[in-house]
Amino acid sequence: MLAVFTELKNAQRVRKELSKKDVMHPDFRAVKELDYIYFPITKSVKIPGSKVVNTKFEFPLIPKVVTVEDLLKKSLTKKEMEILPQSQEIVGKIMVLEIPETLKNKEKQIAEAYLKTHIHIDTVVKKSAIHSGIYRTRKVKILAGKKSKETIHHENGINLKLHLELVYFSARTGSERLRVAKQAKKGEEILVMFSGCAPFPLVIAKNSPAKSVLGIELNPSGHFYGAENVRLNKLGDKVFLKQGDVREILPKLKKKFDRICMPLPKTAETFLDVTLPCVKKGGMIHLYVFLGKDQIDSTAKLISKKCKELRYPVRVLRKIKCGQYSPGWYRVCFDLKLKEK
Ligand SMILES: C[S@@+](CC[C@H](N)C(=O)[O-])C[C@H]1O[C@@H](n2cnc3c(N)ncnc32)[C@H](O)[C@@H]1O
Repeated sequence: MLAVFTELKNAQRVRKELSKKDVMHPDFRAVKELDYIYFPITKSVKIPGSKVVNTKFEFPLIPKVVTVEDLLKKSLTKKEMEILPQSQEIVGKIMVLEIPETLKNKEKQIAEAYLKTHIHIDTVVKKSAIHSGIYRTRKVKILAGKKSKETIHHENGINLKLHLELVYFSARTGSERLRVAKQAKKGEEILVMFSGCAPFPLVIAKNSPAKSVLGIELNPSGHFYGAENVRLNKLGDKVFLKQGDVREILPKLKKKFDRICMPLPKTAETFLDVTLPCVKKGGMIHLYVFLGKDQIDSTAKLISKKCKELRYPVRVLRKIKCGQYSPGWYRVCFDLKLKEK
């Protein structure tokens, strides 16, 4: 095979020259032999301090990274390639794709391509309906791989077992959970309303010096997986879970918390009447709302007004955009601090 042969001390200069002249063979790796190196080339070339030789040995092949596009280019038109899903949500070993309706008849082939090119994935599903209902669950359809909708997701030092259809979970809000955890101080008693399979309680317990975290979840399946996750992460001395409606449970608790998370962006603010009496003076609330970018400031004022009317005045410390759902639409967290007086 045609190669350029040079001393190791010249290797960098010769490699640069070969690249500049565009004659380096794209499929093979260079081979070192004692103080010399052979660069595989596509055509003869003159470079000072090196010699062109015809080697008797074969060069090692550079492993090719096969892409989804490589696998699909024969079965999809150029137009179809352009509308392939650009972002994928990965939950544990399951990839969740949003496949456009126009590609429905090719969805299995597309899913197989994603499965082949992502070695950590066991199953590819497509979203067949958005999150809905009081439990905020969604339907997915398995397109390729193992026939399972249950998986274990790793984030922020914890493992979360969950079933994609039976409980709400979004891998995309992992950094927001950590942001909240990082605010919790030593000894804090924290409440997570709408706790689902317990990602917030566990991430806070694992990543903060808080004393305890109580999670309350209405969906029995969410509570079931939450309890399983507390065991899985061995955090039973810090995380406690209750199944039921926060509206009924909170007034009966007769307890105040240093910090309360309200991760139910559709309607969380309608629960402020039961939340506010449970916050210690000077305590924090993290309230989530879906909003257009022009509504963030006015909503902060509305929340502030509502808390004042309920006789628990707050200061809006931060307005954090923590997820974008469509152009101009965000999941926003309002960090509220209950005034001391
Ligand atoms: C958007 S999900 C958030 C789940 C979880 N915190 C997470 O981040 O993955 C909202 C959760 O609130 C629960 N939920 C809705 N209404 C509730 C209520 N009145 N009391 C307790 N939980 C409720 C739903 O079942 C759902 O699991």
